[in-house]
Amino acid sequence: MSLLEVVDVTKRFGGVIANDNVSLAVAKGGIVGLIGPNGAGKTTLFKCIAGSYPVETGRILFEGREITNLSPDRICREGIARTFQVTRVFRDLTVLENVVVGALSRTNSVTLARRRAAEILALTGLVQKSGQLGRNLTIADKKRVELARALATQPRMLLLDEVMAGLTPKEVKEAVALLRAILERGVTMLLVEHVMEVVMPLADRIVVLHNGRKIAEGPPAQVAADPQVVSAYLGGRYRATR
Ligand SMILES: Nc1ncnc2c1ncn2[C@@H]1O[C@H](COP(=O)(O)OP(=O)(O)OP(=O)(O)O)[C@@H](O)[C@H]1O
Ligand SMILES: [Mg+2]
Repeated sequence: MSLLEVVDVTKRFGGVIANDNVSLAVAKGGIVGLIGPNGAGKTTLFKCIAGSYPVETGRILFEGREITNLSPDRICREGIARTFQVTRVFRDLTVLENVVVGALSRTNSVTLARRRAAEILALTGLVQKSGQLGRNLTIADKKRVELARALATQPRMLLLDEVMAGLTPKEVKEAVALLRAILERGVTMLLVEHVMEVVMPLADRIVVLHNGRKIAEGPPAQVAADPQVVSAYLGGRYRATR
């Protein structure tokens, strides 16, 4: 059984069909890459899955249970957490406090939440920065804090929206290693990413959106060689190496 199933989801903004009858399935324990040009509908689909936007038609199932149009906090409690394309770190809270906020979605005990947050700061390499204010962080650290805050909600699935954007090559390498460590802990991921050198080696499967529609799906090498994907999105900028 798939962990997440999106079935025929449609989402419109006035005349714009941001998601046009999109279906996809994410198997437990892997990484699925969601790619496509700007405006393809990737972030909109994340928002529909996470409950930020109601869908007009279609269904979303998590572990076989219907989660379509539940509230975002309910979906979070079901076990789906997300990061944001434009980071939403709490600027006036410290790194530790930002992560405690995530942990408090699972417990009313601040002591327990702080303990969980401390473990996650260790996993995400943020221990040294735990006292810094959100407003003073670099982009890379803001992205890390968002990932840590999402992890603190103890998700079984993470929706990651361009977590590598704006990072230096060294920071990208560190972020990839972190995603692999998170995967090893049994968290399944749906990853929106424009950096093909990152997403192609990381993902088991790739789904391609274009103008709101799914135009291709399959193993990375197959999708990278798909003429429709090359013409709609990749151009000459990525050649599969495996
Ligand atoms: N809140 C909104 N109101 C109106 N139109 C919207 C809204 N959000 C998204 N859209 C439109 O829906 C379409 C899909 O946008 P979306 O942000 O999902 O694309 P994306 O694939 O995430 O793009 P990018 O790679 O640039 O982040 C675009 O045409 C966009 O202009
Ligand atoms: Mg987007």
